[in-house]
Amino acid sequence: MSIVILAIESSCDETSAAVCRDGVIVSNVIATQSVHEKYGGVVPELASRAHMQHIVPVVDQALSSANCQLSSVSAIAFTQAPGLIGSLLVGTQFAKSLSLALDIPLIAVHHMQAHVIANLIDHNKPEFPFLCLTVSGGHTQIVMCESPTQMSILGETIDDAAGEAFDKTAKMLGLPYPGGPLIDKYAQLGNAERFKFPEPQIPDLNFSFSGVKTSILYFLKNAGTSLLFKEQFLASEEEQKKFIAENLNDICASVQQRIVSILLNKLKKASIQTGIKHICLAGGVSANSGLRKAFVEMGEKYHWKTFIPAFEYCTDNAAMIAMTGYYKYLENDFAALNVQPSARAEW
Ligand code: KG4
Ligand code: ZN
Repeated sequence: MSIVILAIESSCDETSAAVCRDGVIVSNVIATQSVHEKYGGVVPELASRAHMQHIVPVVDQALSSANCQLSSVSAIAFTQAPGLIGSLLVGTQFAKSLSLALDIPLIAVHHMQAHVIANLIDHNKPEFPFLCLTVSGGHTQIVMCESPTQMSILGETIDDAAGEAFDKTAKMLGLPYPGGPLIDKYAQLGNAERFKFPEPQIPDLNFSFSGVKTSILYFLKNAGTSLLFKEQFLASEEEQKKFIAENLNDICASVQQRIVSILLNKLKKASIQTGIKHICLAGGVSANSGLRKAFVEMGEKYHWKTFIPAFEYCTDNAAMIAMTGYYKYLENDFAALNVQPSARAEW
């Protein structure tokens, strides 16, 4: 009999459901929430309400496009942590109810581990152990993955996440949320050598983006004058706006190049330290075209075998939850019905 996993992802502002049949993703439906756009960021209470509106139609659509009846589902997987607690609660309660009503096991999945496992969805899979640079809106991690259910964090950010660095820069440039994809778009038209932002000196395999963020702020407040990184703001608001409008592409390209170099220099260090050469990207920021290109180039230079999930499996999606759920199902790693969601990232 087939192993069919129905998965639900509701950690932030995407309601998603997916079906995995015998380790193959057969559907992945994602409803995004446009309600947050005008607020310049995700509003947790609005996110929870939108999840409640979306969850039934999204699950229905995932089942029907997989040609799957509820009666043939073997287990329900759901995102248990980390995320916005109200959003997680909607998915958790829905999964629990289905598990109870259908009398099938419940599988609790860690969102960050699932981002890593997105690399096992394609038929071209990395070999264990592999390294994964997971870069999302809330997290930046280098993970060593020894099996689908065994992984450890080798390094992570001590302040902002890479996605936050993109989004906060975009905000300073007056771009709407989430700004990461827009910086990517303008960067493709710009000269990345034009402006220099500092590379932080953080020990080990950890990351920091707050220094870069501050230097960008000072740079913009001085409208790119020679007082680049000093805390003396010489430019008027008008001058700042004019400077941004005239140099947007070059600013985006230069910022993006620095964020990418911070990420990849640590990944190179992790590969040298561990001797591991099967290396993956994961998370929303792995959709960034500059990061993808530089990652592949670094892989060629250092003889890595590189892997990046398909675009729809980089940003938040239930397919990665379903795939992780499948491997947990094989190990009978089930959750009790009193399992609680958690906003925290520990695993
Ligand atoms: O993994 P994800 O979808 O959600 C979280 O779990 O956080 O990541 C969202 C993040 C946002 O910060 C967004 O700006 C960023 O990924 N992002 C990008 C790009 N596409 C999404 N950042 C840079 N370039 C992109 N093309
Ligand atoms: Zn995510």
